[in-house]
Amino acid sequence: MQVNPVIVALDVPDQASALALAARLDPDLCRVKVGKQLFTAAGPACIEKLVGMGFEVFLDLKFHDIPTTVELACRAAANLGVWMLNVHALGGPDMLAAARRGTGQGGSAPLLIGVTLLTSMNQSAMHAIGLSGTPEAAVLRLAGLTREAGLDGVVCSAQEASLLARELGRDFVLVTPGIRMADGEQHDQSRVMTPEAALRAGSHYLVIGRPVTHAADPAAALRVIRHSIDNMI
Ligand code: C5P
Repeated sequence: MQVNPVIVALDVPDQASALALAARLDPDLCRVKVGKQLFTAAGPACIEKLVGMGFEVFLDLKFHDIPTTVELACRAAANLGVWMLNVHALGGPDMLAAARRGTGQGGSAPLLIGVTLLTSMNQSAMHAIGLSGTPEAAVLRLAGLTREAGLDGVVCSAQEASLLARELGRDFVLVTPGIRMADGEQHDQSRVMTPEAALRAGSHYLVIGRPVTHAADPAAALRVIRHSIDNMI
């Protein structure tokens, strides 16, 4: 079990909002995730500021391109000092191996995580792009490719975590969004799990956005979440 498993998704439109939110959070109680919206608006300077505030940063840009381009983008991300970054497993084995070369491995290299099948893809969307089989089979196959290419883990739903932990081993890192407190609002997430249940299912890291960022008191919301899992970490 990780000592600091909560990653707060800074899904805000600009640097000022991101830094104001981060200032209310304790880096000992969470890491932070910067996605496409914030990074496109605020760029590397925002990452450097968050790192300077003591946060470990998950750069969620889901790279998917030819191998050389992804290798160089991953190297640039590693040079920014991010703690974790991700790429699409659908880029294939050569792209995944190139991503790993780009980040380096071990030591201070960032954790490199694959995105398998987007949760927005259902079976008919899969068939439309020529992917056969069930979403579960595709997730398992892509997670296997990710591990074979030397990546550290995958993003997955909590519902997939126990299967992936069983098939790919407990050391393979599982990063899980769709986390909600039992009495909390679900927003637009269709399948949710509590922090405690997700960790029990095998997730290593929990990506949590609105339950913290939309709370009247984000620091208090984070403390409640941490309190619910403190006996497990
Ligand atoms: O606000 P909420 O907790 O739903 O935020 C979840 C975060 O995880 C968002 O940044 C969202 O983009 C991301 N995410 C997700 N589902 C996935 C992959 C990423 O909710 N399958």
